[in-house]
Amino acid sequence: MRVLMVCLGNICRSPIAEGVLRQKAEKNGLKWVVDSAGTESYHIGEPPHPYSQKVCRAHGIDISNQRARRFAKADFQQYDVIYAMAADVYDNIQLIGGGAAIMSKVIYFLNEAMPGSNASVPDPWYGKEDGYLEVYKLINNTCEVIIDKYGKKGNNNK
Ligand code: 4NP
Repeated sequence: MRVLMVCLGNICRSPIAEGVLRQKAEKNGLKWVVDSAGTESYHIGEPPHPYSQKVCRAHGIDISNQRARRFAKADFQQYDVIYAMAADVYDNIQLIGGGAAIMSKVIYFLNEAMPGSNASVPDPWYGKEDGYLEVYKLINNTCEVIIDKYGKKGNNNK
């Protein structure tokens, strides 16, 4: 399975989601491709936010080599599932895609753990360090659900 995590800047939330899901996939012997991107261009080429790196490192995950890139229309073809970390991100993905029809692969990330909620992972960018731990926990729990749902049935773990 090829999975893309998308947020606004690709430096706070989606890099954590990329690192967490990749590690869980590897631990479960799944040959998944996991990547992340941002719908905005402010931070292209930058490593993840220092607090995102720190909270991942504290949980045994090194995301320091990841670099921010912008979500592109071509990503709709490259991935099986595209996770929007928040409502504004979902809307931006739709704008970049150019319409509603292209949205069949795009899922609100938190809907995997809270179906139908269309809830957003809070943006920690304007907050303090403890916000990054809250975001990490939310992402970690949701990635656990994703592994259970798609990784353990044996039908989608290519
Ligand atoms: P992210 O957080 O979308 O989780 O990477 C943000 C990072 C930067 C900005 C906004 C959100 N910004 O406005 O620069």
